[in-house]
Amino acid sequence: MVAPYQLRGCVGLSDMWNSVAPGWEASAQFVDEHLALATESLLDAAEIGEGDAVLELAAGPGGAGLAAAERVGPSGTVVLSDVAGEMVAVADRRASAHPQVSTAVFDQSAIAAEDGHFDAVIIRHGLMFVEDPVATVREAARVLRPGGRYAAMTWGPRDMNPWLGLVLDAVGEQFGVPFPPPAVRGPFSLDDPALLESVLQDGGLVDVQAHAVRTPMHAASVQAWWERVQKLAGPLAIALAGMEPHVREEIAERALSAAANASRREGDQIVFDGAVLIASGHTPAH
Ligand SMILES: C[S@@+](CC[C@H](N)C(=O)[O-])C[C@H]1O[C@@H](n2cnc3c(N)ncnc32)[C@H](O)[C@@H]1O
Repeated sequence: MVAPYQLRGCVGLSDMWNSVAPGWEASAQFVDEHLALATESLLDAAEIGEGDAVLELAAGPGGAGLAAAERVGPSGTVVLSDVAGEMVAVADRRASAHPQVSTAVFDQSAIAAEDGHFDAVIIRHGLMFVEDPVATVREAARVLRPGGRYAAMTWGPRDMNPWLGLVLDAVGEQFGVPFPPPAVRGPFSLDDPALLESVLQDGGLVDVQAHAVRTPMHAASVQAWWERVQKLAGPLAIALAGMEPHVREEIAERALSAAANASRREGDQIVFDGAVLIASGHTPAH
């Protein structure tokens, strides 16, 4: 079936993410604050410490890698990498005060680094978008030294993340087909802890474990949430941009009405539930 909205196929992977890089730059601080506790948990799972050589994959504006830079200190190094050059440019600007941080443009499925180069590889909300996550973890394991650590954060189940799930539902209901289409890996493609653990194990890692962390999503209002979420979601942004204005308006109405039911008011903010998964493992010692 051909989806009645435009997605990948008319636009390349890096083009898609390049197009939302300005939105990610504008919201980078918000995203980092929203995920601050979960990111500390990611860095704990990767056992990031002083002097480590760390690679962040699918870094976007680099928030997780910049948090890692605080831990590795001046004797360590952090590389912020992403397939989208515009995202890397944002990360580069944000890293300017950190001499131990550098940036690179590459796909996580073909990492431009020698075997065994890094002590740790981290990835925050990037593994679930690849076609073959097992091969992608295996590629990350290749650039880890023996006994090196890998940690990945993905979104937890759709029903535990209504702030994002209901947007995908609104687009899908509008057209009567699932969004994203089954052939495209969306934000919830690795939302099950057992599945995520099996991906890391099959990718060659040992001592694999996964756990969930709550990440409630705050916004000033449902309108403010809607403005932000559509600017950040790469595939969604592309789909919405390709629609007639009245169709976008109908989707907005569906999403805003569902959001009013799925959120609660706390003081002068609205809050949605949210949860991420964090999975980690080591490369074998020898
Ligand atoms: C949801 S954003 C997350 C950005 C960042 N990690 C964060 O948490 O703030 C997903 C990022 O993954 C990148 N990405 C998607 N597919 C990728 C791939 N195959 N290789 C490298 N980066 C990829 C996108 O360019 C985008 O920056």
